[in-house]
Amino acid sequence: MDLKGKDFLKLLDLSTEEIGGLLDLSAELKAKKKQGIPHRLCEGKNIALIFEKTSTRTRCAFEVAAYDLGMGCTYLGPTGSQIGIKETIADTARVLAGMYDAIEYRGFGQQIVQELADYSKVPVYNGLTNEYHPTQVLADLLTIREKFGKLKGIHLVYMGDARYNMGRSLMVGCAKMGLHFTACSPEGYFPPEDLTETCRSIAAGTGAVITFESDPAKAVADADVVYTDIWVSMGEPEKVWEERISLMKPYQVNAKLMENAKDTCIFMHCLPSYHDLKTEIGKKVGEKYGMDGLEVTDDVFESERSVVFEEAENRMHTIKAVIAATLS
Ligand code: CP
Ligand code: NVA
Repeated sequence: MDLKGKDFLKLLDLSTEEIGGLLDLSAELKAKKKQGIPHRLCEGKNIALIFEKTSTRTRCAFEVAAYDLGMGCTYLGPTGSQIGIKETIADTARVLAGMYDAIEYRGFGQQIVQELADYSKVPVYNGLTNEYHPTQVLADLLTIREKFGKLKGIHLVYMGDARYNMGRSLMVGCAKMGLHFTACSPEGYFPPEDLTETCRSIAAGTGAVITFESDPAKAVADADVVYTDIWVSMGEPEKVWEERISLMKPYQVNAKLMENAKDTCIFMHCLPSYHDLKTEIGKKVGEKYGMDGLEVTDDVFESERSVVFEEAENRMHTIKAVIAATLS
């Protein structure tokens, strides 16, 4: 694997071997971290973190990964910088590339992170766009590999709105690494056709399978992993909740649905999650529509099957591998 100087914008840009190499490096760096073995592979380098949307996991993962690698980092949040308001992405890229060794970007369209990369002479990492969330999928793949000891042939069922970043990125990750990906969504909420075609042609070479299903009970019957995400993503208007709730309610991951799955099936979620009414939005939406949990119920979220916090921790180990592989 030689990723030195490369961007990390979407998994489609990487080969199966490169993704596998990043997972191996993540496991190695995770083991070092657990054993307290220093791994300051990027000593003296610096990274700029641009967040045009909010974050807990991705921001903290980048910051801790950078510190562990011996780097400095600067966080530029949704407010407080000139980006987008007084300065273009092209100018921002050239300014930051003059001071930093790498730039992370979380925001809206994929074309923005692409433009940043086009104008930056240092590696650019995608920390989530509307279309893709590649560092999340890297952590998901590492988690699956840890749980099952392999990736090839594992059946991952994504429940809910598969048109957005998580549904799309998981389909790409599964296609590249030889998993069986099922999008379980209402008609019209599957990933876009052109991306599906691309993934099916990748799948032909990796042994992956890409299927779409609208019946939740059928979809999970053979699943090794049931995965879901919030029904309304960052940047979407509040008014879409009503339509989304009525469409997605049958796709809620609850105990009854999980009864249809194998005993060995695990539950995954990129987080944050509305699994109870203890958050501001969870409470507001849950009370309005008479639901205790939205995309997943609390009993599944807190069950033995749920690996969501291991998955969250793996964000840091995998992001560290991306930084180390592209900078050292
Ligand atoms: N999963 C994820 O990207 O979480 P944050 O929005 O907290 O970064
Ligand atoms: N689909 C979600 C993912 C959050 C990690 C969003 O874009 O808000």
